Amino acid sequence: MLPRVTKRRLSRRSRMRGARKQRNVLNRLLEHRLIKRVSFEEYREKVRDVYDGPQGAMLATCSLLSLHTTLGERLIQKRQFDLHGSRHILDVGSGAGQIAKHLLKYADPEAELTCFDLSHEMLRRARNRLKSARPRFVVADLTQLPFDDASFDCVTCGYVLEHLPDAQFGLAELSRVMMPGARMLLLTTEDNFSGAMTSRMWCCRTYNRRELARICEDVSLRWHKELWFTRMHRALRAGGICVELVKQ
Ligand SMILES: C[S@@+](CC[C@H](N)C(=O)[O-])C[C@H]1O[C@@H](n2cnc3c(N)ncnc32)[C@H](O)[C@@H]1O
Repeated sequence: MLPRVTKRRLSRRSRMRGARKQRNVLNRLLEHRLIKRVSFEEYREKVRDVYDGPQGAMLATCSLLSLHTTLGERLIQKRQFDLHGSRHILDVGSGAGQIAKHLLKYADPEAELTCFDLSHEMLRRARNRLKSARPRFVVADLTQLPFDDASFDCVTCGYVLEHLPDAQFGLAELSRVMMPGARMLLLTTEDNFSGAMTSRMWCCRTYNRRELARICEDVSLRWHKELWFTRMHRALRAGGICVELVKQ
């Protein structure tokens, strides 16, 4: 016979497990399914259309309202992700230049900046917003990068990986173009309620933190540190997965 306290603890634990399961089912139901239903080529066309069109024109405003812009700036400004000393910086899926704007402000003046995106239209918007001749803008797909091996010592990748059916396709390519010891700031949508809502809006998928960490290790990107500002930020998992990776 189990003592009453142990029984109570066990039943509380199984209730919590049940609630977690229900939440996971709800998140899975809410999550946008297109990425799983069609081929990558078809899906990529759809993503390009979304960002080329009116939704893409709203991207900078949406990032401001969702506080993603503030999150990115604080991580860089407070040096939780330190740009100091980086000479060749790659900004992945630059969109409207939300992260590139922080790079222009906080990176060393002699650092070279390369911004790439699948959408030509998004890069045009980024160029107009940034009003700087400093970054090099390149139209490219994250799964087939037109850069040499070990070209960059710093990478920023904000909310792009969720547009791939399998993270490994993009992470292996980023690992290839990173120098040994190079660092990456990776921000991506997590498999929770707010992630599922984001995936509805932007036709993307979400990632499980532990599974993503495993994939990073498989492509020689060490899961160096998860980035949080406060306990509240951590509890709410605001901004999804925010992590610094280091190329082995
Ligand atoms: C949510 S926006 C992110 C913008 C910015 N990086 C940020 O942190 O807010 C996603 C961007 O990724 C681009 N993108 C999606 N799939 C891509 C791919 N396979 N290769 C390159 N860029 C891609 C989209 O065109 C879009 O501009």
